[in-house]
Amino acid sequence: MSKSKLHTPICDMFGIKYPIFSAGMGGIVSPSGPELAAAVSEAGGLGVVGGAFVPPEELRRWILQIREMTDKPFGVDTLIPFSVTQGNLENPIKLDVNLPKEHEEFVEQFAEKYDLGDLPEADIPIFDPVFIKEQLEAVLDMKVPVYVAGIGDPGYLIKRAKELDLDMKIGVVVGAVRHAEKSLSNGVDFVVAQGHDGGGHNSIVGTMALIPQVVDEVKGKIPVLGAGSIMDGRQMVAALALGAQGVWCGSAFLATHEARITKGQKEMLIRTKETGTALSKYFTGKRARVIDGLFVEEAAKSGLPTLPMHQQLTMTDRIMRAADAQGRVDVNPGVAGQGVGMINEIRPAADVVNALAAHATEILEQGILQSL
Ligand SMILES: Cc1cc2nc3c(=O)[nH]c(=O)nc-3n(C[C@H](O)[C@H](O)[C@H](O)COP(=O)(O)O)c2cc1C
Repeated sequence: MSKSKLHTPICDMFGIKYPIFSAGMGGIVSPSGPELAAAVSEAGGLGVVGGAFVPPEELRRWILQIREMTDKPFGVDTLIPFSVTQGNLENPIKLDVNLPKEHEEFVEQFAEKYDLGDLPEADIPIFDPVFIKEQLEAVLDMKVPVYVAGIGDPGYLIKRAKELDLDMKIGVVVGAVRHAEKSLSNGVDFVVAQGHDGGGHNSIVGTMALIPQVVDEVKGKIPVLGAGSIMDGRQMVAALALGAQGVWCGSAFLATHEARITKGQKEMLIRTKETGTALSKYFTGKRARVIDGLFVEEAAKSGLPTLPMHQQLTMTDRIMRAADAQGRVDVNPGVAGQGVGMINEIRPAADVVNALAAHATEILEQGILQSL
């Protein structure tokens, strides 16, 4: 059988039909759970769970669940923040997650103003390096085929996977050429170049400018996946033309039946226009693109300094848990990239994979001008 026009070397590297990855999207409730990852892999892409906040034992259960739903390759994405590990998971430092007084006051006043009731205690396990290490040990133990670090250096995993002689493909999400260069020298198998347009933590560099520059840095050594508002076949072909060997899509897969976000947040995706996102450090302490909502607006107005990730997330977590418990999408509308304006319906994840593949193939077969 002849290979499709969409077939790139990473299809062979990962053993997949289409070079389409669903991004590991984590959070208080992880949007990319086992159902989404399995559906994407089963449809011919590669589904990645957002494991960042998922306790190691639950992560193991998720992996088993995926394996019950598909025999295709899949991945796990977690965060390894430097502020938590200090670059050393073997001899870590425990961080103090208490908030400064004025931030504590902001949280209380916000909850009162927007009628959020009593706020829960924060529960952000990634502040605990032991938690991170156990997550990575679960990934190793369960022989997960693909691992991606959304933040940080997966050096510990690379070393352990080598010791255990595992055939695990390990990647990193990068937002700058120097990060790609460092990841390459650390021994990763691939990088995801995520531009400014994308949802969640992103780069100061736009997707269009970032992808080719990262590609040029690592060309001939490791492949690059392009990310940041890749929603349809036009954007996928553009990413391939920029030198990416595949695409890593988040927001496109949020608008699916399988994504673990609320119905209200899915409806919010349909309502939100391309101008409806905000870049804020108040969400996680690092620059992140989120759907504009009351929390990031009020936090920006407050003029409070943003805190390191481990403290800023404590602040966000308390408010978002309370908002989610009440279905308050005005406070927590969710996270998405600028391509959100292209979301018009909620579909099965397999439809997203198939539509992306069919549209990109049509453009490649008919020629760009003919297919417009
Ligand atoms: C809701 C949401 C949560 C995310 N959480 C993570 C995460 O935990 N780890 C990670 O590597 N990237 C995370 N990201 C970024 C995605 O991996 C991906 O790079 C991004 O979604 C691409 O941009 P797009 O949403 O425009 O497709 C998240 C993105 C979204 C939208």
